[in-house]
Amino acid sequence: MRIDIVTIFPAFFDVLGVSLLGKARSSGLLDVRVHDLRDWTHDRHRTVDDTPYGGGAGMVMKPEPWAEALDAIVADAARRPTIVFPSPAGEVFTQTTARELSGHQHLVFGCGRYEGIDERVFDYATMLGDVRLVSLGDYVLNGGEVAAMAMIEAIGRLVPGVVGNPDSLVEESHEDGLLEYPSYTKPALWRGREVPPVLLSGNHGAVDAWRRQQQLERTRDRRPDLLG
Ligand code: ADE
Repeated sequence: MRIDIVTIFPAFFDVLGVSLLGKARSSGLLDVRVHDLRDWTHDRHRTVDDTPYGGGAGMVMKPEPWAEALDAIVADAARRPTIVFPSPAGEVFTQTTARELSGHQHLVFGCGRYEGIDERVFDYATMLGDVRLVSLGDYVLNGGEVAAMAMIEAIGRLVPGVVGNPDSLVEESHEDGLLEYPSYTKPALWRGREVPPVLLSGNHGAVDAWRRQQQLERTRDRRPDLLG
């Protein structure tokens, strides 16, 4: 999978060099390319923002550098990419979104700052790829970078081979619409707290039933919205 990221803060993405995604990059499973939007400006100050038409607080990202950046990225792309703009005004990102996007060959993340990107950029981008505005959740971040990082990790770990043991992708929160069951390791008694005895019983059927029950109880208590 190829992932291009356009940002005015490339350093936010340095962490993509560590842990599982870092390994996936070195091994060639993930081809991640981070681009500085300012490389597509032409003035001495490398300006990427300007005041909003109609007035109002804050600054808006200018369309010209965005168009040049996207043009350059698609110019050497093998196929039409999916272009994701992280935005609190987008569709909400869920495990279903992550699963779907993990099947795409080429993702481009356009990280906006300030009060947003000139709206015409989204329309222009539809000529170059399939455009998605995606929100991490109902709260406001200072820009798209942290949201893009979270999405890239959620998507990247679903790319075959990135997570060593694919079984660990199956039994986790949200994969079956429920929260994950609780996990324990040795010692069986720790600071006065016991591991639930069923887990020590060796009875796999009983363990499975207990875990399922835990999933249902936790989901009902913490996330009743998931039960519909
Ligand atoms: N940019 C600012 N806030 C955001 C959010 N909640 N999700 C995605 N991108 C954002």
